Amino acid sequence: MTGISGGATIAGVVGAPVRHSLSPLIHNAWIAAAGLDAAYVPFSPPPERFGAFLEGLRGGAIRGLNVTLPFKEQALAAADRASDRARAAEAANLLVFDPDGSIVADNTDGQGLLGAFAAQAPAFRPDAGPVVILGAGGGARGAAGAFVAAGAPEVRLVNRTVSRAEAIAESLIGPIRVFGMTEAAAAFSGATAIINATSAGLSGEGVLEVPLDAAPNTAIVMDMVYKPLKTPFLAQAQALGLATVDGLEMLIRQAVPSFEAFFGQAPPASVDVRTLALKALGASA
Ligand code: ATR
Repeated sequence: MTGISGGATIAGVVGAPVRHSLSPLIHNAWIAAAGLDAAYVPFSPPPERFGAFLEGLRGGAIRGLNVTLPFKEQALAAADRASDRARAAEAANLLVFDPDGSIVADNTDGQGLLGAFAAQAPAFRPDAGPVVILGAGGGARGAAGAFVAAGAPEVRLVNRTVSRAEAIAESLIGPIRVFGMTEAAAAFSGATAIINATSAGLSGEGVLEVPLDAAPNTAIVMDMVYKPLKTPFLAQAQALGLATVDGLEMLIRQAVPSFEAFFGQAPPASVDVRTLALKALGASA
């Protein structure tokens, strides 16, 4: 981000905390490789002043923002317009500030999820069979919406607290079935993909105890957690010989349409942001 001019386009990421976000690394690497007059910066307002932070940006300071925890729901609520996929996810990970002062919300996490499968499990088809999602938080809701939209014949939501999964099934129109954690083996039967959207597996969090051996040997196993990159859940899948998809690829793939929204062009293919991100993850481990 050296060498920006007075005419530079500014975008950023907002979260609390945002210190460990890989988005500045990814976007600034693309900006540099594309030779853009632009910068991508982190913002971490006090959570109770997020509303004031966003209102100020209606003044035209920056082009857009990625939004991460814990602000995704508030970001959607503050927007004047929102895409269908943001409304389905009940969360925004992307805001664009229009010159007229309005805020437009979008959600590219579903695209990131499906893009990660396309990159790391290219034979996978979201509409080929039942897909299992573990969890019922914001990540699980977004994933369920993305797979329903991609034509999955059945989305099986498995959660410890069944009522949270039922709430998602009620608000998303689609072929969603709800299972308790103790019924995970039944949910895995015949599944084409199994996705961990719980917070278990994050460094310092509990480990997910699920009977992955009940899954078909063709099932693709994915974890949205990318710290560590190989979560205990992915390690368990690999020990069973199952193919896996990782959360870092999802992060990179959701960044692609964000970059396009900010800078009006696709990220350059000439820079390997995955290798850069892996180095940063290794350094912080
Ligand atoms: P987010 O919005 O980030 O996706 P969240 O709302 O904090 O996350 O939800 C975390 C999810 O992880 C929930 O589905 C939670 O299960 P409950 O709804 O039953 O609380 C799940 N989760 C967290 N730790 C877990 C563990 N050790 N085993 C199983 N599920 C776990």
